Amino acid sequence: MQYSQKVLDHFMKPHNVGKIENPDAEATEGSPACGDQVSIQMKVNPETQVIEDIKFQSYGCASNIATGSIITDMAKGKTIIEAKEISWKQAAEELDGLPPVKIHCSVLAVDTLRKAIKDYEVKHNLAEVEKFNKDTIVEELKKVIYPQVGEDIVTLKMVKYAGFEEGVAVIDLEIPKFDKYRENIAEEIREHLEQYKEIKEVKITM
Ligand code: FES
Repeated sequence: MQYSQKVLDHFMKPHNVGKIENPDAEATEGSPACGDQVSIQMKVNPETQVIEDIKFQSYGCASNIATGSIITDMAKGKTIIEAKEISWKQAAEELDGLPPVKIHCSVLAVDTLRKAIKDYEVKHNLAEVEKFNKDTIVEELKKVIYPQVGEDIVTLKMVKYAGFEEGVAVIDLEIPKFDKYRENIAEEIREHLEQYKEIKEVKITM
């Protein structure tokens, strides 16, 4: 697999690795795609809401470690509102690109950062604890990356319908029968959605 020199540099000598004592916010997120995990902790200035310190620990691959390193660099010194806008695409650009099959590793790191920010917001009454609804399903589908092009299946308009009723998540996909990633995508959707206790069944048609 071809990694950019920048990915290799951040992988070999990642920045901001470790733990923070008494963090103001933290989050751990696991990837349904590969089972790897990332944790992020941060200190936030209560007056300015600037992220003054941020550290991560990764049990993921080189792409994940490199993304954890670059996004914590990017987030440090930003307000939580600015840091929420950091996307996996920006992270990948900063790293001079990532192989498409490794995009989910980058998404995992960025999701963990967003979850840590949400943790801060909830603890400081800046946001409510999210209630589960159809939008939650769509947000999860946006984390499922079509490996060939490195974009998510919602952006690629592969999701014709996503609904939720009485504990059943119904997803209708537009993926050709001969597509070699068809089954993997369906499996990944299931893994993303089955982590919610609100979902009793996932029905996928395609
Ligand atoms: Fe699991 Fe990259 S393969 S984080």
